[in-house]
Amino acid sequence: MNDPTTIRRLYGRRQGHTLRAGQAALVEELLPRIAVPADGPLDAVRLFGNDRPLQVEIGFGAGEHLAGQAAAAPGTGFLGCEPFLNGVVGALAHVRDGALDNVRIHMGDALEVIERLPDESLERVYLLHPDPWPKARHAKRRMMNHGPLDLIAAKLKPGAEFRLGTDDPTYCRWSMMVMNQRRDFIWQAHTARDFLKRPADWPETRYERKARRQGHEVWYFRYIRI
Ligand SMILES: C[S@@+](CC[C@H](N)C(=O)[O-])C[C@H]1O[C@@H](n2cnc3c(N)ncnc32)[C@H](O)[C@@H]1O
Repeated sequence: MNDPTTIRRLYGRRQGHTLRAGQAALVEELLPRIAVPADGPLDAVRLFGNDRPLQVEIGFGAGEHLAGQAAAAPGTGFLGCEPFLNGVVGALAHVRDGALDNVRIHMGDALEVIERLPDESLERVYLLHPDPWPKARHAKRRMMNHGPLDLIAAKLKPGAEFRLGTDDPTYCRWSMMVMNQRRDFIWQAHTARDFLKRPADWPETRYERKARRQGHEVWYFRYIRI
């Protein structure tokens, strides 16, 4: 099972540019209303007031994918996790503009939220363009490691989906190697088209758009929890 000391550490920056007044107001007023409770066990009733399917996005960046999925499935509860304040502000703006009442936000480490959910409670987990940590000595920091994956696997329902997107060739190879060692997920690709073409229900993220502009290939992985 996962070793908390290998998965509890959070890397990367927490804040970029200073917030404008309107952005600061979103953080002060909207965030407290839709923030994931800071401690204690979590479930759909505590988070949304009723029982409903749950999905989690790890590292939502500016929140466009989270908002797109939430708008497409109003009866599902979405937990978006992102430690980067400027990204959280982007997601809050999407929630406000789309009047989305099915999104909860955690400004911090996604694994801290996932571990507080019941086992076999999630319908989907998204990990889109995770930080690649390209140096071999930083490989342990990659989200695609067995510690975080054990936790994700425990919280997904049987038949639920884990989605990974990346444009980083090293991360792509690494992820395929790690997933190939696991017996609890089945890769959904039957032909190359299945992982080279973005599925219709997979909104484009900011990083993905940037990667395409730079001429990068993007890979879309869908794994089913056995
Ligand atoms: C390369 S960005 C991709 C953002 C977004 N998914 C996209 O595709 O545009 C990776 C994001 O993961 C976030 N991140 C890193 N570690 C995280 C963790 N433990 N929990 C949640 N988010 C994390 C970073 O802050 C960063 O915003």
